Amino acid sequence: MSTGRRRGGTAALALLAALSALPAACLAVTSPYVRPAPRATLPLHKGADDDADGQTPQQVHISMVGADKMRVTWITDDAAPAIVEYGTTSGQYPLSATGNTTTYSYVLYKSGNIHDAVIGPMQPSTTYYYRCSSNPSREFSFRTPPATLPFKFVIVGDLGQTEWTESTLKHIAAADYDVLLLPGDLSYADLVQPRWDSYGRLVEPLASARPWMVTEGNHEVEKLPVVEPAPFKAYNARWRMPHDAGATPSGDNLYYSFDAAGGAVHVLMLGSYADHAVGSAQHEWLRRDLAAVDRGETAFVVALVHAPWYSSNEAHRGEGDAMRGAMEALLRGARVDAVFAGHVHAYERFARVYGGEEDPCAPVYLTVGDGGNREGLAGRYADPQPAASAFREASFGHGRLEVVNATHALWAWHRNDDDEPVLADQVWITSLAANPACRRNNN
Ligand SMILES: [Fe+2]
Repeated sequence: MSTGRRRGGTAALALLAALSALPAACLAVTSPYVRPAPRATLPLHKGADDDADGQTPQQVHISMVGADKMRVTWITDDAAPAIVEYGTTSGQYPLSATGNTTTYSYVLYKSGNIHDAVIGPMQPSTTYYYRCSSNPSREFSFRTPPATLPFKFVIVGDLGQTEWTESTLKHIAAADYDVLLLPGDLSYADLVQPRWDSYGRLVEPLASARPWMVTEGNHEVEKLPVVEPAPFKAYNARWRMPHDAGATPSGDNLYYSFDAAGGAVHVLMLGSYADHAVGSAQHEWLRRDLAAVDRGETAFVVALVHAPWYSSNEAHRGEGDAMRGAMEALLRGARVDAVFAGHVHAYERFARVYGGEEDPCAPVYLTVGDGGNREGLAGRYADPQPAASAFREASFGHGRLEVVNATHALWAWHRNDDDEPVLADQVWITSLAANPACRRNNN
């Protein structure tokens, strides 16, 4: 057992000791917390460096590709080489990889040069320094995720770019985590394409330092009748995910899966706005993907969607029902441990549920559409609170999922309480693979 593993275990035990004091252990809690006033949408961000020229890399973000590689994505206003140079010492870049450059147009907007290159193989839990397009003016660094448990995710949806987003990002930056998961609604550009650029600049300090694994929300669709009939134009160009990697490539950027912690965790990034009906390409891929997961090796399987499958909020009621109807049995059959959603601008945690009923062999359902979007919070809930709804609160915030070992993961939701992150809900999630009562296809 590594030193890091011991540290993680010790921290988890300390949290376990604290857990008994939290109200989250109670069933059906509607938080009494009263929100402060909404905050403003941020102005369009300029580049980070006023001296930047057209070849200065901007909007840098990274995403995992397979077990030991990373895709680096960045934009330059002018033409520049799609090369990433990297190494484990600041200022020294003995390794390099060359990728591709693309652009897109949207009505009258023309994007910058969007570059991406896949680097690696790399060592786990190691800091790498890199620069893009051989430009010496900006050095970036990231830490590769660990190849074993424990493994720490941050999960936050509907991020947007408001002053609340800034607050959420500040809290996330202060957390010790390996990978960020985003279940859709990234920039809230909402057709205004320069807002994708300002979003890229806003998240760059975090997204260039840890992998950001995202899936699409409704705000990514951006179709316009006649003039822009193709959906997801900006999203697919700017946020390419590893749909062509892993054990079961999906071939579609709108849904994919990847492994973490050397295969101990399998993450499904599902597409709420891609066809998900029985017989669709996504449904068939999901069936293949889950069939290939060996729960003897994979301790935890988690899924992300945008529109929640279970919610007691009045906002967006029923919008996830069709996807749930098509895919819920597949997830339960594979003993998926937890499903995270966005879309509803609030936090909610459900019990393990299947077909609307509590089921000890079904996933826990959580909604974290609370990153900081510009549309405000969703504060109206069904009354009375359903018994399966364990905790709900309309606040901005973010969640942290630490998969501690092969049997236990600790979920903790942090509310943006004014400007401080406050732990407001916490629960242990135990692996269904480790539960002998929940055999595969035991439904
Ligand atoms: Fe949404």
